[in-house]
Amino acid sequence: MLKSKIAGIGAYVPEGVVTNNDLTRFMDTSDEWIQERTGIQERRYGKKFEETTSTMGLKAAEKAIANAGIDKEDIDFIIFATLSPDYYFPGCGVLLQRALGITKTEVGALDIRNQCSGFVYGLSVADQFVKTGMYKNVLLVGSEMHSMGLDFSTEGRNVTVIFGDGAGAVVVQPTEKEGQGIINTKLHSDGTYAEKLAMINPGSHGGYHAEKLEIDVDYGYSDAEFGEIFVNEHMVENGQMFPNMEGQFVFKLAVQKFPEVIMEALGDAGLSPQDIDMLVPHQANLRISKFVQKRMGLSDDKVWNNIQKYGNTTAASIPIALAEAVEKGAVKEGDLVCLAAFGSGFTWGSALIRW
Ligand code: ACO
Repeated sequence: MLKSKIAGIGAYVPEGVVTNNDLTRFMDTSDEWIQERTGIQERRYGKKFEETTSTMGLKAAEKAIANAGIDKEDIDFIIFATLSPDYYFPGCGVLLQRALGITKTEVGALDIRNQCSGFVYGLSVADQFVKTGMYKNVLLVGSEMHSMGLDFSTEGRNVTVIFGDGAGAVVVQPTEKEGQGIINTKLHSDGTYAEKLAMINPGSHGGYHAEKLEIDVDYGYSDAEFGEIFVNEHMVENGQMFPNMEGQFVFKLAVQKFPEVIMEALGDAGLSPQDIDMLVPHQANLRISKFVQKRMGLSDDKVWNNIQKYGNTTAASIPIALAEAVEKGAVKEGDLVCLAAFGSGFTWGSALIRW
């Protein structure tokens, strides 16, 4: 069987820098609180009405395509991972195809809804298609425009301060070079705690899960017609259309699952943490990454962190961080690179790559 490699990579972050102090204009928070709990100093927000998840994805994709030395017409499959799509449907995959000007309909476009682990899931899908010989140039994009859908009141501060906008992309191709390429990908999920980190409205659930889980919540359905179940005024007025998170619960699981899935990948490949040249964790929270680093016994130069500048960009965080590490020469040919992610779902996973 063939092996796949990341043949091109690129990232884009919007120009607008939003510092922790800037957020204090909207909500009761402080630079000290945010830095101490998350490590974040600033994040980027896309330009309202000009930038979207798919336009940022386009910019990252164009860089990855150029970096791979191919033409956009060479792309035969698009995978787009995001939790903040331009539209509820259709997904960003086809919007990106249109924006790239790819008119051939032989190209397929797939959207991935795996939040923080979306990029790792997407890379695994790309790997399977390339390894089996079905596709030769898979474009994988992770992009997020969080700033459009956050609660900027004090009520939403525990979530809002964490997230930022940005995009990253890779081109996955077959490789014949001995030893090079994706060694393995590991994917996991556990839906037991789906609501612990979620944005559940607008949606078609109609309160079904809350009833099953015996969660006492009023979604304003008392006299609702069908059309008012998906979204209604009560939801808007009561801030029920924003993401919610039980931070400490997420934290505890994340610090357990990150090391587990990294060790699983290494074990399968007959390798140990000391063999890792660069770990690029999903940039969830600097405290989580530091905890994982310590558990793995890795030195500072073997873990790439840039959450300080960009916040948590969910599906985009790994390709943005990886692109930065590659650009700065911190990832070189022959290096063992490990990508790992954990997030809403919960879903988590890893990818082990010989660069
Ligand atoms: N500014 C100031 N105060 C705040 C803020 C804020 N932005 N957010 C919450 N607080 C307050 C709370 O209201 C609470 O006040 P109270 O004691 O008066 O009730 C107090 O700070 C402590 O709140 P906690 O939620 O218990 O704070 P915690 O120490 O757990 O930190 C955090 C919150 C940073 C979210 C933490 O739980 C965490 O890091 N969780 C991991 C989740 C994560 O990283 N998610 C990222 C997305 S998921 C992913 O990518 C894996």
